[in-house]
Formats: sequence, C-alpha cells, structure tokens
Amino acid sequence: MSSDLISSFLLPPSSFIRHSSFVIRHFPFFPVLLALETSCDETAASVCSLDGRILSSRLFSQIEIHRQYGGVVPEVASRNHITKVRPLVEAVLAESGIALPDVAAFAATCGPGLVSSLLIGTSIAKALAVAEKKPFLAINHMEAHLLSPFVELGKVEPGLGLIVSGGHTLLVRISGVGDYEILGRTRDDAAGEALDKTARMLGLPYPGGPEIEKMARNGDPAAYDFPRSRLADSPFDFSFSGLKTSVLYELPKLDLTNPQVLANVCASVQEAVVSVLVDKAANAARHFGLKTIAVSGGVSCNKRLRESLASRCQKDGLRLLLAPPSLCTDNAGMVAFAAAQRFATGMTSPLEQEVDPNWRIDALP
Ligand code: KG4
Ligand code: ZN
Repeated sequence: MSSDLISSFLLPPSSFIRHSSFVIRHFPFFPVLLALETSCDETAASVCSLDGRILSSRLFSQIEIHRQYGGVVPEVASRNHITKVRPLVEAVLAESGIALPDVAAFAATCGPGLVSSLLIGTSIAKALAVAEKKPFLAINHMEAHLLSPFVELGKVEPGLGLIVSGGHTLLVRISGVGDYEILGRTRDDAAGEALDKTARMLGLPYPGGPEIEKMARNGDPAAYDFPRSRLADSPFDFSFSGLKTSVLYELPKLDLTNPQVLANVCASVQEAVVSVLVDKAANAARHFGLKTIAVSGGVSCNKRLRESLASRCQKDGLRLLLAPPSLCTDNAGMVAFAAAQRFATGMTSPLEQEVDPNWRIDALP
C-alpha cells in the first residue's frame, strides 16, 4: 500500500455510531477491513484494524446441523451461509463501533474449500466492495491458517509453518507475507481427516478430532501400536491412511462397549498422529535451519499436540507459536489478519477473481 493511501486513512475520523437519537463520534478511529469466511461449514465475519488487531470476530457454527449427516453436506452449508452472513456482518460492525462506509477494504476466503460455500462469502464481500467503492481482497484459506499463530505478535516472521486442518497437513517455509514454499504435505488423508474417519469407525460423532481427544483423556496411549508412517524417500511428507486401515483391521477384536477399550484406542490413535506431527515438524525445522515453528489449523486445538510440541521445541531450542484455540478452527479473524498483512503489502484483488476449490498456498498472487 502506498504511503499516500495509508495517510488518507489516518485523516480525521469520519466514523459515527448511531446511539438513540444522538450521533456520537467514535474515538479513536482505526482504519479497518472486514473479512468473511465461508469456505466450509462455519459462517464467520471479522473486523480487523489495518495494522492487524482483530477488533471483532464472530461465527455461526453449523456443526450441529451437519452432525446428523455424519459430515458436511455442501448444499446445506451454503444455504446456511446465506442466512447467517448478514447478521454476522452487522454484529461485527456494531461490536467494533464501525460504520460500513468507514471500512477500508472487504476480504473473503476464495479457496480452497467447497465451491458452493466459497461463493457466498466471496460474492457478498465483492458486492460490499462495489457498493462502498472500496478494494476487494481474495484470501487463501490456508494462508489465513498459516499466519494465525502470528496474530498475537502483530506481524509475520520467517519460520516453519505446520498447518493441521481437516483437509490439509502441510509443512511450509514462511519467508515473508505471501512468500511460502511447501516442504511437506500429506500423500493421502490429512491428520484431521484421519481422526474424523477413525472416530466414525469407532461410532463417535462428527467432527471426530475433539471426540477422540475427549475419549483419550482416560486412555493408555501405549495400549495399541498403531503405525507412524515415516516415508523414508520424502521425510517431510505425511501419510495417515495406514493408521485408519490399521484401526479398521483391529475393529473386530475390540469391545467398544467397554469404555476403557474405547479410551485406549482413542489415546493410541491420538498418540500416533501427534508423534508423527511433532517429529516431522521438529526435524524439518532442524533440516531447513528454521528457528520458529508456527502451528495452526483445527487439529492444533488438541491439548496433547500442543503439550508435545511445547516440550519438543523446548528441548530443541525452537520458538513455538501456537494460535489461540479460537483461531485454530475455521474463523474469520484469521482471514482478516491475513488480509491486513496482504493489504499492507499493496495487494488488492480484481473483482473477476473466481473462487478456486483447490487453490494452493504456493500459487498465490
Ligand atoms: O481447520 P479446520 O477447522 O477446518 C479445515 O480447514 O479443515 O479443521 C477441522 C479439523 C477436523 O478434522 C476436526 O476433527 C479437527 O480439526 N479438530 C481436532 C480438534 N478440534 C478440531 N482434532 C483433534 N483435536 C481437537 N481438539
Ligand atoms: Zn480451515
């Protein structure tokens, strides 16, 4: 962003909040952007200052709606996005004391994700940008996850990103905002996907990751020796499908009505996933000479993963940045923060930019 543009946002405040019959000038006035996240089954909106402070972040979780189907139903997700976006936008504007004309830019997740879901947030953000004559920013969902551990720092620093979400498991070299290199990826299931599928086999509800964590609390992580795929030919890639298959073969031998058996299986599955994630991240940091590990994505809510990463990083002399749990699972705060970082580099997106269900983090403009 040019310095002229920055200073134009710092001109005397034009933000007013209507309160009863009075019009109150709202101080201090921060230049802000508004971001929407509708890539899957969370409808979310956030207002963030252009220097990266999240002023308001709200979401409507559709988990209860999709639970009855055992997973996300795309058409149901997009229908719910349509009805929930507007109240969320109004709520985050009200909470941050910002009037729509004072929003400097509008951002939305444009991929990866479900096309029918991505289209809702993107179309609304573009429409707001056109109506308010402000720029639009297309944000990559994985970039938003990747940068979420930096929200507390308020800036992005070089390091190794570990993204563990429902659809992706990625090791990413972060050289700066928008400068990312994929160092490792899953060859089959993502970590979250493996946990969700395994939980389903065990008769646990969707989403499976938090259910496995809950059951694992009373279990023995060494009860079952589930596979930890090492992939000698590409040591920083992941494979979690063998774990799922191994649980499937074990199933006929298991009495899942016995709570201790279920707890032991869950603790052993969780341990297999956590140990692979921690080992590969720490080994990649050492191999590529990166001193910071920034961990993000829904699976990084998992306490066992957070504790295990913390002790390994302490042992290896690495700095660990963990996104707070509210920024781990899908939310718009992380999208707004990423948009603020991108806007500060001068990026805006053409209105013609289409949603991309497979948008790669290493193919960003
Ligand atoms: O990042 P996210 O909210 O959505 C995607 O972009 O995919 O991640 C969702 C994934 C799901 O697979 C869910 O089971 C997993 O994160 N998850 C967890 C926990 N909370 C969510 N996995 C393990 N432990 C948790 N506490
Ligand atoms: Zn996500």
